[in-house]
Amino acid sequence: MTTRILLVCMGNICRSPMAEGLVRHRAKEYGLDITTDSAGTIDHHAGEAPDQRAQRCMRDHGIGIGDLRARRIVPGDFRDFDLLLAMDQSNLDGLLRIAPAPDLTDRARLMMAYAPDLPREVPDPWYGGPDDFERVFHMLHRATTNLMDTLRHGR
Ligand code: 4NP
Repeated sequence: MTTRILLVCMGNICRSPMAEGLVRHRAKEYGLDITTDSAGTIDHHAGEAPDQRAQRCMRDHGIGIGDLRARRIVPGDFRDFDLLLAMDQSNLDGLLRIAPAPDLTDRARLMMAYAPDLPREVPDPWYGGPDDFERVFHMLHRATTNLMDTLRHGR
């Protein structure tokens, strides 16, 4: 059965497209049936490709994300996706505010819940430099590995 995963941050041009790139890349490695999308809690960057710094960081790790385009979260995402993974608490709060039904809210959680030994929020690299994007990549890589293991074992 397909697992539909939405990755969510604020602008949908740095963290969540990086997370989406990692999840779709690693799902192939793991042979898991996963579809992905990503979205932001604000619409300032709607229609834009990921930030060049995010694209460069991902390319350095052999993963292309240049095809992705930003959009804002919508209430229907709670029905269209099985898991809505937020990069930080503020993004999670933004998601929960638009949940169309109380029984769907448990679909939304923090991405870093899958890497409990790391900080629970992925820091926003927007005002940072290459090292900040690299740190984001490694945090997301760890969380993605555990997410893949969790899905593979059907939990
Ligand atoms: P992201 O980073 O949430 O990781 O995509 C940001 C990108 C843009 C803005 C904020 C965060 N912004 O305010 O424009």
